[in-house]
Amino acid sequence: MREELAINGGPKTVERDFEWPLYDETDVNCVAEIVRSGKWGNPDCGGEVAQFEKEFAEFCGTKYALSCVNGSVALRLALIACGVKPGDEVIVPPYTFIATASIVIEANCVPVFVDIDPRTYNLDASKIEAAITSRTKAIIPVHFAGQACEMDEILAVAAKNGLRVIEDACHGHGAAYKGKKLGSIGDAGCFSFQSSKNLTSGEGGMVVTNDDALFQMMNSLRNVGRVEGGAWYEHHHAGCNYRITQFQAVLLSNQLKRLEEQTLKRHENGTYLNELLEAIEGITPLTRGLGETIHSYHIYIFKYDRSKFNGVSKVDFSKMLAAEGVPCFMGYPQPLYKQPLFQNRNFMCYAIPETVDYTNVCCPVTEKACDEEAVWIFQNTMLGTKQDMELFASAIVKIQKSVNQS
Ligand SMILES: Cc1ncc(COP(=O)(O)O)c(C=O)c1O
Repeated sequence: MREELAINGGPKTVERDFEWPLYDETDVNCVAEIVRSGKWGNPDCGGEVAQFEKEFAEFCGTKYALSCVNGSVALRLALIACGVKPGDEVIVPPYTFIATASIVIEANCVPVFVDIDPRTYNLDASKIEAAITSRTKAIIPVHFAGQACEMDEILAVAAKNGLRVIEDACHGHGAAYKGKKLGSIGDAGCFSFQSSKNLTSGEGGMVVTNDDALFQMMNSLRNVGRVEGGAWYEHHHAGCNYRITQFQAVLLSNQLKRLEEQTLKRHENGTYLNELLEAIEGITPLTRGLGETIHSYHIYIFKYDRSKFNGVSKVDFSKMLAAEGVPCFMGYPQPLYKQPLFQNRNFMCYAIPETVDYTNVCCPVTEKACDEEAVWIFQNTMLGTKQDMELFASAIVKIQKSVNQS
């Protein structure tokens, strides 16, 4: 018998809600304590902020961790501190959030889009070398969805060509590559604590590094150009006030205590969901086993093949799945280079060479992922039970049966 789809008024497959963020009284109390202390700000980057930075550096296994207002600024600080000059080129993937590339523009540099690997949707390491020119200065690999990029290959090509590597680990809190925490592998690693992220204080960011010079420069840039040991009214660099508050720091510190356990849970559930979805014709989980030892599943992504679903488009399938109670989304509708920012060269005050033209850029793997294939399930669901994962798979099977009978 054909079951009525929830989108047509039938029963939902998944009844429960998945909350995010998760918190308890310890979170409420630690924030309340800061309120009562009257020390809310962070003029000297000390107090709870310094404490959380110490904890996060320990967590990542890096010498330094430097907090800032968000993940975009974390990337911007890291890139500028690397010493890029106007017109320099920076290699980025086109399947990522805007900030990975827009911060390159903000540094007066040129984002060069290199396609993603169809197995992982991460920057295709084998395609980087062909995009390198005499102007290339850095690579920003994004550990998309929390799956590690092929860092050995990326570091090798960077070393061969004298490039800096800034990891965009904004999805990768607690995830690991060959046992090393994401963010700790390149010259610098950047994290976001925005509200959807696996570790959050509503907004916030962090850069981790082992490089003394990078740290000193980023520290100055995030604190209005001040330098260690300098006077309050002594500004050496064109920095800004990118400091976070004590509220954010104390909350993140408390949330960090849960991160390891939550990450392992997401990893375990994601691995189990892979097994379940592999058995469904027309559904292919992204490939695992390319070096990632822990996947943080900030997003659980699978590939959808409409030919096994009676030609139903990815957009409609995603709506059907969401109606079944699986918190999901069709993902990015187009590659990043299709944004008006790039297509119309809306570079405003930034000094991007006249010759830079994105109208002919085409990364076929990214185009296919956006148009046809990629479906995203949100990270908080990965903290559910094994039974929840089974229900997600049943929802897909229900849709498949229904559309194939119609
Ligand atoms: C891959 C990636 N990089 C960078 C960022 C920027 O982080 P934020 O929103 O904290 O500025 C995000 C945020 O969604 C992201 O997904």
